[in-house]
Amino acid sequence: MTGRTGQDLYLHAKTRIPGGTQLLSKRPEMFLPENWPAYYSRAQGARVWDLDGNVYHDMSYNGIAACILGAADPDVEEAVIAAVKAGSMSTLNCPEEVALADLLCELHPWAEMVRYARCGGEAMAVAVRIVRAATGRDRIAFCGYHGWHDWYLAANLAEERALDGHLLPGLDPAGVPRGLRGGALPFRYNHAEELRAIVAEHGDELAAVVMEPIRNMEPAAGFLGEVRQVCDQIGAALVVDEVSVGWRLATGGAHLVYGLEPDIAVFAKAISNGYPMAAIIGKRAVMQAAQSTFISSTYWTERIGPAAALATIRKHRVCNVPQHLRRIGQMARDGWRLAAERAGLPIQIGGLVPMSSFAIRHEQAQAASTLFTQLMLDRGYLATRAFNATYAHDDRILEEYLQATEEVFGVIAGALERGTIHALLQGPVAHTGFARLN
Ligand SMILES: Cc1ncc(COP(=O)(O)O)c(C=O)c1O
Repeated sequence: MTGRTGQDLYLHAKTRIPGGTQLLSKRPEMFLPENWPAYYSRAQGARVWDLDGNVYHDMSYNGIAACILGAADPDVEEAVIAAVKAGSMSTLNCPEEVALADLLCELHPWAEMVRYARCGGEAMAVAVRIVRAATGRDRIAFCGYHGWHDWYLAANLAEERALDGHLLPGLDPAGVPRGLRGGALPFRYNHAEELRAIVAEHGDELAAVVMEPIRNMEPAAGFLGEVRQVCDQIGAALVVDEVSVGWRLATGGAHLVYGLEPDIAVFAKAISNGYPMAAIIGKRAVMQAAQSTFISSTYWTERIGPAAALATIRKHRVCNVPQHLRRIGQMARDGWRLAAERAGLPIQIGGLVPMSSFAIRHEQAQAASTLFTQLMLDRGYLATRAFNATYAHDDRILEEYLQATEEVFGVIAGALERGTIHALLQGPVAHTGFARLN
């Protein structure tokens, strides 16, 4: 890596943009403080160019899980350019949004109606408004992360540390009205007894149970069925958040794979491979409630998002993208395991196969992970402990990456043994989770 143009720009950005960037997961401090390239000039497939002309393979988040086909996919790009040339916005509606609604309902036969937004958190807020309108109830039981909006952050108002292990710890609900306290009640994935405890106290006040169908661990036997049953018993809707896991395991939501029938499912990120788009799909009886409240926004009607989503989904289906993601994800896992064994570095592998991650098992794990990112950057990789596979990753990229990984694991194992991790780091240790940065 040569040049520091990206870091210099980021230092300036922090004086103009609170937090430096709009997305916590893109802050350079989360990767390699003071040495991350920070900005890109071009992204194509699995490759990214920084502002100094260095090129890297992205073996990390790939557009924070948006670019499931790889960056600037040519088929999606063609559809988007056509949409731009035909006028992306008008007083009239774009027909693509109807075609997309039909396609989403075809892929999810339980769903009958669709609304749109452009971002994941925003779409989740729409879903929550709809279920509250449909049931006339206020409270939401949830597990997992669902965005930055008031309904969700209100959970942190309950008691200071109520969301540890549920919401990303450290999220501060400053600015969220205290009147929303008690609106969102957390339970842990695979802990049906925690959901039942919420239901015992608030069953007839619950508008919905909101959760990802799966994320980091397999559902325990009977867990998803029990959630569905609880919702039916108390007359609450079941909302599944497919913002990140959607399109990884199937052409559609992960809930399809697990035989879970929700009342609403929410998609964003990978649905449109890098262009803003989000869909809220659901059963007619619930979705009609969108008409009894006010949910409306100008740019939810533009043409690029639906055009990109149609092109992404069609390619996803034709090319059997989930099969490719499974194979590439498994290659990464097998390679990590082998590299770690050979290097004598204790690691633990986790996550869904297409969204795999590893953790270094050592008391200096965070410093060691930062060193991994630093040394992989030197070798031409944007690499962290997590890897979202894309359709643009092929065997050759994985083989070369795993060779570099083995070399770097060896350096880290040696440094941990000698206690020289910090001496090898060229900057501070990466920040974790939602720790405050300024
Ligand atoms: C499960 C889940 N829901 C919601 C969101 C929020 O989506 P967005 O960042 O597009 O607002 C995310 C983002 O990471 C997510 O993973």
